[in-house]
Amino acid sequence: MRYTLKHKPSFISIATQKGGAGKTTLTALVASMAHYAYGYSVAVIDCDEHQYSFSRMRARDEKIVYASEGLRRIASDQFLVHHKACYPVIGAKVADAYDLAAGLRQADGSRYDLLFFDVQGSVGTTGWISLLASMDYVFLPFVPDMLNIESTEKTMLMLKDLVDSGKSEATLSAFWNMVNVRERRDMVEVGNGVIRACGVRVLRTALPMLSRFRDKLTDLATAKSGVFTCTLLSPTNNMLKDSCIDILCEEIFEIMQA
Ligand SMILES: Nc1ncnc2c1ncn2[C@@H]1O[C@H](COP(=O)(O)OP(=O)(O)OP(=O)(O)O)[C@@H](O)[C@H]1O
Ligand SMILES: [Mg+2]
Repeated sequence: MRYTLKHKPSFISIATQKGGAGKTTLTALVASMAHYAYGYSVAVIDCDEHQYSFSRMRARDEKIVYASEGLRRIASDQFLVHHKACYPVIGAKVADAYDLAAGLRQADGSRYDLLFFDVQGSVGTTGWISLLASMDYVFLPFVPDMLNIESTEKTMLMLKDLVDSGKSEATLSAFWNMVNVRERRDMVEVGNGVIRACGVRVLRTALPMLSRFRDKLTDLATAKSGVFTCTLLSPTNNMLKDSCIDILCEEIFEIMQA
């Protein structure tokens, strides 16, 4: 279901200071679902000024999708559904990203529904926390181990302080990523206590630890029938199965509705 969004464009970031928590991967999955499956108009601002991983992912995807007849066909079928090209990926330094996005909003306010900010996991970067504080929505990915929980908790507390003191209007939500269903329930329970004590909502959707999230699009033979994490295609129904990405998107867009 496609919701009417409260903010147009909505500024959204999946963010934590913790490296490797899945920010870039999940941004790509949710942005691609939003643009290619839901039909929202998306742009991604790649603010990972150390690695520019999102931009590198786009360059990789272009090479692989255009080289594969099967994937080209999926891309063109997808194009026929919504009649629009792939979403732009724009690189920016953390300190410049907000002005760049505000410029996009000013110049062509009606064009985008969602602007995703992929921000590196580093508090040391100038402007890092102010950029996150200027979002409409921040989704904090918690990974169930103690170091990850403590680190993302710090980001959550910094943002919550800014919200409580009226310096940020961001809606904060936490969610679980890389949950090994059998082993990590105890950690999830501990973490939920920490998050709820801070007064932040925890999403119902917890993403499982699945090798599919790690697959790199290098094997054309296996990629022929579809791909999972890709900036040019949304995941096929077959690949969405058990990943919970579809229900995560539904929950995220439900929160963002008018
Ligand atoms: N649910 C999951 N199950 C298995 N692997 C996952 C899952 N989510 C993310 N990953 C993998 O974890 C690794 C780190 O993810 P990613 O690069 O997206 O993290 P990041 O938070 O953007 O890191 P950085 O802080 O370096 O920017 C990647 O190999 C990714 O494919
Ligand atoms: Mg990243």
